[in-house]
Amino acid sequence: MLRRFMAGFGLACLLTATATQAADPILIKFSHVVAPDAPKGRGADKFKELAEKYTDGRVKVEVYPNSQLYKDKEEIEALQLGAVQMLAPSLAKFGPLGAKEFEVYDLPFLMPDVDAVHRVFESATGKRLLAGLEPKGIKGLAYWDNGFRVFTANRPLRLPSDFFGLKVRIQSSKVLETQMRALGGVPQVMAFSEVYQALQTGVVDGSEVDRTNIYTQKLHEVQKAITLSDHGYLGYGVIANKAFWDNLPPDIRGHLERAVVDATAHVRDIAHKLDVEAEAAIKASGKTELVVLTAAERAAWGEALKPVYAQVEGRVGKALIEEVRGVVAAGTK
Ligand code: LMR
Repeated sequence: MLRRFMAGFGLACLLTATATQAADPILIKFSHVVAPDAPKGRGADKFKELAEKYTDGRVKVEVYPNSQLYKDKEEIEALQLGAVQMLAPSLAKFGPLGAKEFEVYDLPFLMPDVDAVHRVFESATGKRLLAGLEPKGIKGLAYWDNGFRVFTANRPLRLPSDFFGLKVRIQSSKVLETQMRALGGVPQVMAFSEVYQALQTGVVDGSEVDRTNIYTQKLHEVQKAITLSDHGYLGYGVIANKAFWDNLPPDIRGHLERAVVDATAHVRDIAHKLDVEAEAAIKASGKTELVVLTAAERAAWGEALKPVYAQVEGRVGKALIEEVRGVVAAGTK
């Protein structure tokens, strides 16, 4: 009797355990380095909301902002190891993945406005770059917007000669490094989470960054001037661990793909507005000077930066640079 009871009890436990397991949601850890209020932070939160809604709770997304889990380089390693499932690194941070061609997006004055950026993201070239991540174990899902890059420093950077001797924090892209040398500054690669303190303590003299990150990280409080050069774009590649993505049940994957598409549209809707609001808030704070370049100053930047294209074509690919130029030009005809 007792034996029968025990056997029955054991079976019941097993069934309960199996039922619990079946009900356990699939967990996606989405790590990023910016504030929840920056465009990427908003995008990650929107993706969480939609992924959980579209899958009816069969997927749970945990978003870790502000480098809480990993800094720039570590998060890429964590994705490859499967310790996190999704990221949206800046396009200037794909070098460590061996995807050097993403640095085409960092070329100075390549994409004159956000429409041009979108044209490139949506082009066959943009899609091919994302697809090219697959052999590296990465699924490229989408591009997300942020805004154009500017420079912060303790002095206005009106002309390339103003960069002379300045140590400027850049992201890990070799194109950005070449660009900084062409301007006459000394590039310092540093994780995003360390920038505020490095500027505050004078470890670096300036930084190359965008308006929403300046505002949300309070960089304007420790820098006397922001030069609104808008010389390049800071956008993101939304990526997943490929083995994880490919092994998802197909219906779940379909819902998640829809959540990515809708979150991407949301980021596109809000990024420019957040960019404009960030600049207005920085101005209103009165803590830093906003420097607008004259046409002649901008032309001097253009001259100084022209050689960068030839210097990096061996790394990024001459044909790819020409292709992107073609996509940009197609919309301006
Ligand atoms: C940076 O490091 O400046 C940016 O990549 C941060 C980000 O992800 O927006």
